[in-house]
Amino acid sequence: MGQRERADGMSHQTWRFLGRPLGVFPPSIALFLSPLIFSGIAAVMHDFQEGGLSKLEEMVCDAGIPLIDLAPFFQAEAPEVLELRRQRIGEIGNACEEWGFFQVQNHGLDSKLITDSLKVSSEFFDLPLEEKRKLSLPAGVSPVPIGFCCDSGLDDKVENKEHMFFFAEDGKKATKNGGSYAQYNVWPDTPASYKPIIKDRLLKETQTTAIFLLSLISQSLGLSKDFLYEHYEDKLNALIMLHYPPSHSTDEIGLSKHQDGNILSVVAQSEVEGLQILKDDKWITIQPRPNCLVVNVGDIVQVWSNDRYKSVLHRVINNKAGTRYSFSFSCVPGVTTQVCPLPQFTAGVNEPPKYREFRYGEYMMFRFENKKVGGPNSEEITIKYYAI
Ligand code: OGA
Ligand code: NI
Repeated sequence: MGQRERADGMSHQTWRFLGRPLGVFPPSIALFLSPLIFSGIAAVMHDFQEGGLSKLEEMVCDAGIPLIDLAPFFQAEAPEVLELRRQRIGEIGNACEEWGFFQVQNHGLDSKLITDSLKVSSEFFDLPLEEKRKLSLPAGVSPVPIGFCCDSGLDDKVENKEHMFFFAEDGKKATKNGGSYAQYNVWPDTPASYKPIIKDRLLKETQTTAIFLLSLISQSLGLSKDFLYEHYEDKLNALIMLHYPPSHSTDEIGLSKHQDGNILSVVAQSEVEGLQILKDDKWITIQPRPNCLVVNVGDIVQVWSNDRYKSVLHRVINNKAGTRYSFSFSCVPGVTTQVCPLPQFTAGVNEPPKYREFRYGEYMMFRFENKKVGGPNSEEITIKYYAI
């Protein structure tokens, strides 16, 4: 059996830009304010000082997209720290229900590593196109498209972006076939610091951060810390380094609107804005904030939680003012993982499942095959396909 077949027939395209039906709720300012009112002025002041940004700022930033301070998770376990952790987990739960997206600060990922990674990535993308193209694997060599890509898109519209794709080595579980998919990664020799920064550090350290964030999301659903992480087999976790050139054309799109078909995405963006989410029929820009990460739940968390958490439609527009760089770490199940709503959110609460069970590889293949320039595919395939 060839590599391609082993990976459920995926071919060389942007298989990971996967989606789901949109469903977001208006934010409740009253709900947001009530804990402040009832916990008293002292606690409010404590929160203001401890977090760096005030609650009031949090409410208006990015039209309300929550900014959550994770500092308490890196502090010693005093009773008041445990209480703050509990509050932050609650904030994450609210953010996942209302927005599907949030930003985090004090997340534990080294801020210098973020800056250095975006910088060395920009140096790589500055190389001539023919150099970068050498870092694309020929079809059939790897189970999924690895390395350089500059021709993703829908219909006949190529997205105005480039990316480099890498698999992450998962410390805990190997792939079904024994090895890690990271063995297929192709690494540039130029710039010389690319490998030391991206391969030796970012790939590993963003995975640690993503697993940590997944543990908070797991707890916010009332599940144990490790539940969601343990719940997916043969992990296909991956890192993408992205480059969006500047553009004045309103016809162009950096990354067409989509919902992530994964479990979780953790994104760092350079200071040039461009990432937008759709809320109440409006595109809202997620403001780049120094040292912050953007976190969003993907389709699989939406299915697991039986629609309690939302995998929200988003896109990237090219910015006329400058070049934008970002990276995105994705928690992705292996192709053999069976996905269905968890009993905790169905039978356990007397709710019928909203999705039928499916094999992750099948969904990945549908989406992946669809996202090819030239096909009759003006929309991405979403998780609606499995809706009951
Ligand atoms: C993605 C994505 C956002 C960005 O990779 O799915 O939405 O800012 N990326 O590049
Ligand atoms: Ni996305």
